[in-house]
Amino acid sequence: MRVLAIETSCDETGLAVLDGTLEGNKTVFTVVANQLLSQAEMHAEFGGVFPNLAKREHLKNLPILLQALLGDLLPDTEQSLDAIVVTAGPGLEPALWTGIEFAKRIGTAWGKPVFAVNHMEGHLVSSLANKTTEHAFGLEGIEFPVLGLLISGGHTEFVLMKDWFSYEILGQTLDDAIGEAFDKVARMLGLPYPGGPHISKLAEQARVADAKIEVSAAKQKGMEQKSGLPEEGDPRTFDTGLSVKRLPRPMLQMPNCDFSFSGLKTSVLYQVRDLGGTDSLTNEQKLAFAREFEDAVTEVIVSKTRRALEQTDAKVFVIGGGVAANSHIRMALQAMIADEFPNTQVRLPELSITGDNAIMIAEAGLMHLLKGDWSLETPPTDIAAKGTWSVAAALPQPLS
Ligand code: KG4
Ligand code: ZN
Repeated sequence: MRVLAIETSCDETGLAVLDGTLEGNKTVFTVVANQLLSQAEMHAEFGGVFPNLAKREHLKNLPILLQALLGDLLPDTEQSLDAIVVTAGPGLEPALWTGIEFAKRIGTAWGKPVFAVNHMEGHLVSSLANKTTEHAFGLEGIEFPVLGLLISGGHTEFVLMKDWFSYEILGQTLDDAIGEAFDKVARMLGLPYPGGPHISKLAEQARVADAKIEVSAAKQKGMEQKSGLPEEGDPRTFDTGLSVKRLPRPMLQMPNCDFSFSGLKTSVLYQVRDLGGTDSLTNEQKLAFAREFEDAVTEVIVSKTRRALEQTDAKVFVIGGGVAANSHIRMALQAMIADEFPNTQVRLPELSITGDNAIMIAEAGLMHLLKGDWSLETPPTDIAAKGTWSVAAALPQPLS
């Protein structure tokens, strides 16, 4: 089965052609061609994604990327396609429509059925697959229930996957998404959009700096004890942890799987303001904020994941979405689960596919087609953009 996938839900324009085969319980996805263009730099000056700019750029880039994609393929490859799959939501509606209209036009021109894919399902399915070769992903050994934690610029939610295509939302953010909080805090610290990777980098630098201090403090303490000198005060001269006040760990005590990040973000805002604003922050203070913020969100994520795993007895745990690239969160989750839920298998997405791309959309679409959930003979009669389409909502196809 071969599909062309189109992704335009946010600020990445993605096109990909993938082959999918189902052998017993194993699915193999082969990436035949892939094109991805990020608009992040353009949106950087707005400090976030500007929907109409995203729409304009998608409109401009889609035909260019299609040409590039076809150039990477054998002539007449379009004839070998079985279907076109396109992200229909959730996302920015003006941006989603550009992909949908484009998909419909190609579908009509090439005589191929068009199917709508849920963007979050794309993150989920692609995160479950392992990279097996440079151009292939394998999906096997999935035992249900699967607990998915989707963390991106627009979402923060636990999805319980009871079986293929059967989803239940166990908990979600009540306000900002985690990636949005990363981006807004980054902006307060004077870091460019998208801020997640920048915060993560500074937080890591802070941890290294603090670890060095701890080592030198321990050494000094050892020398003092050996020499019989009295122990003096803390020998630390630079400790990022001392530069900012502790941030809250929101919703930690609430006995549910919901999140809230807006208070945490506001807490950073007030502290930054008390310190004289973004431009007055020292490098040390920026490092300290980055570390404290990342520690706070990680603690909340780990604690809520523990709760969700206790509730569900999931056989597999998987994370997906742009924030799933965060190494501190990945390591903390892995360590907690290995320690407390040794029977739960952890799946972490390949870093190359954590951000938005068309490969993940192709994989989700191919799963539906290969498992017989969608039929090539009965494609949806119409596809519309659904900005808030939940992965757990009834799928809008086949409509006929
Ligand atoms: O899934 P994604 O590419 O787009 C949406 O569907 O939203 O996620 C983008 C989000 C941005 O907020 C970005 O700052 C965040 O993912 N992000 C990170 C990291 N890499 C990307 N957040 C924290 N740490 C990272 N390493
Ligand atoms: Zn996404």
